[in-house]
Amino acid sequence: MSQMQFLNRDGDFVLTGADRAAGSYFPLVNEGGMMSSITPRLAGDCKTGQNTFLLAPCSEQTLHESRATRNFWLSFEDGGLWSAAGQSAAQQAARFTPDADEVTVRGGLLWQTVERRCAARGILAAVTSFVPAGRDTVELMRVQVTNTGAAPVGFTPTAAIPLYGRGADHIRDHRHVTALLQRLRVAADGVVLTQTLTFDERGHLPGEDCYTVYGRTGAGAGPRRCLGTVQDFCGFAGSYDCPAALADPGYTAPWMAPGDTAEGYEMMGVLQFEPVRLEPGASCSWYLALGINCGGETYLDPDAFEGALAGTRRWWQAQNAAAFTGADPDFSAWMRWVGIQPTLRRICGCSFLPHHDYGRGGRGWRDLWQDSLALLLTDPDTVRGDLVRYFAGVRADGTNATLIGREPGDFAADRNNIVRVWMDHGYWPLLTTALYVEQTGDYSILREEQPYFRDNRKFRGEQLSDDPVPAQSGTVLEHLLIQNITAFFDAGEHGSIRLRGADWNDALDMAPDRGESVAFTAAYAGNLQTLAGLCRAMGGTVTLAGEVAALLLTDPGEYTTPQRRNAVRRRYEQVCEHRTLPLRALPAGQVADALERMSDFLRSHLRRTEFVTDGANQCWMNSYYDNNGDRVEGVHGTRVRMMLTGQVFSLMGGVADDEQAGQIARAVDWYLNSPLRGGVCLNTDFGPFGQDTPPLGRQFGFAYGHKENGAVFCHMAVMYAFALYLRGLTAEGAAVLHELYTQSLNFEVAGIFPGIPEYFDPRGRGMYPYLTGAGSWLVYCMLTRCYGVRGERGNLRLDPRLLPDQFAADGTASVTCRFAGRTVTVCYHREDGDCPIEARLNGQVIPAGPDGLCLPRTLLAGDGPLTIDVTLAERRRS
Ligand code: G1P
Repeated sequence: MSQMQFLNRDGDFVLTGADRAAGSYFPLVNEGGMMSSITPRLAGDCKTGQNTFLLAPCSEQTLHESRATRNFWLSFEDGGLWSAAGQSAAQQAARFTPDADEVTVRGGLLWQTVERRCAARGILAAVTSFVPAGRDTVELMRVQVTNTGAAPVGFTPTAAIPLYGRGADHIRDHRHVTALLQRLRVAADGVVLTQTLTFDERGHLPGEDCYTVYGRTGAGAGPRRCLGTVQDFCGFAGSYDCPAALADPGYTAPWMAPGDTAEGYEMMGVLQFEPVRLEPGASCSWYLALGINCGGETYLDPDAFEGALAGTRRWWQAQNAAAFTGADPDFSAWMRWVGIQPTLRRICGCSFLPHHDYGRGGRGWRDLWQDSLALLLTDPDTVRGDLVRYFAGVRADGTNATLIGREPGDFAADRNNIVRVWMDHGYWPLLTTALYVEQTGDYSILREEQPYFRDNRKFRGEQLSDDPVPAQSGTVLEHLLIQNITAFFDAGEHGSIRLRGADWNDALDMAPDRGESVAFTAAYAGNLQTLAGLCRAMGGTVTLAGEVAALLLTDPGEYTTPQRRNAVRRRYEQVCEHRTLPLRALPAGQVADALERMSDFLRSHLRRTEFVTDGANQCWMNSYYDNNGDRVEGVHGTRVRMMLTGQVFSLMGGVADDEQAGQIARAVDWYLNSPLRGGVCLNTDFGPFGQDTPPLGRQFGFAYGHKENGAVFCHMAVMYAFALYLRGLTAEGAAVLHELYTQSLNFEVAGIFPGIPEYFDPRGRGMYPYLTGAGSWLVYCMLTRCYGVRGERGNLRLDPRLLPDQFAADGTASVTCRFAGRTVTVCYHREDGDCPIEARLNGQVIPAGPDGLCLPRTLLAGDGPLTIDVTLAERRRS
């Protein structure tokens, strides 16, 4: 049985029985773009991008299928062979017998040590792996072998690393021919692989990348000999887990020395070191560096390796926007892992981990903005520039580029030239920008000027045309207004906004004609209100292109039917790319009034028309119309159809009134809560595909309970919790988060290392770990809602929503985060209630006002860490 336990609040943990966790993996990555994944058996890949894989690309299946994994062999003097990675035919055969190795993983942010103990041999191998923080594109490994037996033990150590050394596409496309391009040379510390040419979607190019496997002993000695090809190592009769070079006494391997070369074959870095003899209790270590355009020789030394490991651990800890304490130390530790997930997605995008076996790097539009929620909580000054640059991806018609490269400002429309508009894309930038403004009080970001994105897609993706579009620009606020107002005017026949290519739910992609997303109509209703609030708080005048001002100030009489709304939109689309009208400076209050009119219109429309019931006790909001123009939710035959997305955004967008909010929470609990699977799921079972399911999207082709078809989808579940907190439904919100947390940490069932996965499958297994927007949302929710530490026009609002059982035994709960350029610890002291009545900082007592506790930013000025003690009590102190 595998069991996981945290060792401290930093998130260090120990997993026993780890050989049973063959499919659980870790990312090891750095800012330089090195991206590795690694399991307790050292499976997983290692690359810097789509075209530069050192170890062959891995999907979740190849993690256990492939034997082409990192390996380190001990050839004992008696002829026996043992793998420190557990990847030998003999160890696999013994896996379920009493002779199985005992395997423990110790891990932390972001390193792992796998301890593998072979009782029969009296041997313990500890393999530590990490990618050093910084820009060196190298993965490091230390193998330490200890003699735990009573007698001396002698063996010859051999590192064996398969070198794929090319682009991911060649796994299937010319795998053999691209091997003919490979050139390998033996150097003093190991092997160097280059290619004469590469050929892929970029064309035929000179091979410029260099893949290396270098190794030294702890005393600094390089390998005594090497092999460079798979054939030479495995032999014709052998395999990676039973290599002829080590296992077949009748086979003489063609060992190589520095200067020797090989070409035209599948390559390996096989580094054999001098034989050792260990007395009882003695240890010996070997250091390895797997590099892509970076040899990493400097790390092949005990001190340098230790130093880099310590630096890496510190770097990852610092990526956390907040450190929480309270009743449950495991929760604090788990949140440390959740807290680095936004950084992982910043580096890996939505590709490059075993479940994320799609895409070619880069990030999607909505993910970019949502990951920034947590990133800006850590470092708003740096994120400010990124946010401003991201706006250059917005087209003048309110749609946007969908693919974002590694560098801010690096945009493209869909790679396959598919014209697809996701109707939710206009929603996310405001959410993030508003958080930035509230945290910092920096309204000037709204007046920053940015260009509009220009390509051949026109009229909300309805046409392709290569007519040149003149360069034009506008303020960030104008970009935001265009995104939200054009969405308002993109009306479907029931008055909600058209679904088009899909919304947040990528798998609702088959209702482009008549589909509507009621859910995101509610979301946009909330956004229009938020925008109005920002304008009022900013004050002064808002300068807009004449065409945009006209769109904004459309007579409300034109809202009344979907046809009229669409006519307004089409008129705008015809003129938006070739602006001719003079700029207009509108009073901010006038802009806000117009936005509020639109928001009110949508809210009252949805409240009036979209609440559905099961005919018994439950009532909630319909989320969609399908491609037949039929309402999706409610009672259909014997089935009740309900989806979570509409509930989230009707709460968040203020569409549901307080009574409806309570009804929604009850209906979600009744129809969507699935405790055995880990929480609130995305939808009820709509039945067999085709027969019962609405024409809405591929999601209904997925088996029920998986991914977008009704899984416990953590991203949406966390947004649901956030919405509940926002609406004052604290206990309900806390319960949703608690379920996700306990499921994530239930290793026996979920099978994932700490962190929150994208979803839990019907068996409760955590899927698509690490690279999910759930990470950013959870940090955002915990900090700004549960602990209630958030900016309000740059001032610090302290408004905790912690339940009594979330405080430590001494009645405290605290969070350390960044605010106003300082490290701030807010420590809540619970006396006899939940209401913040006063704060103490720098020896000063600040009483709460009638609207609660809000500390002016000026009070927080200064350097160095700051502690704010907040008393929570039943009543206001007189
Ligand atoms: C993923 C995608 C996200 C999409 C969601 C639902 O969610 O990254 O863009 O909205 O699926 O289709 P995530 O991985 O962020 O949890």
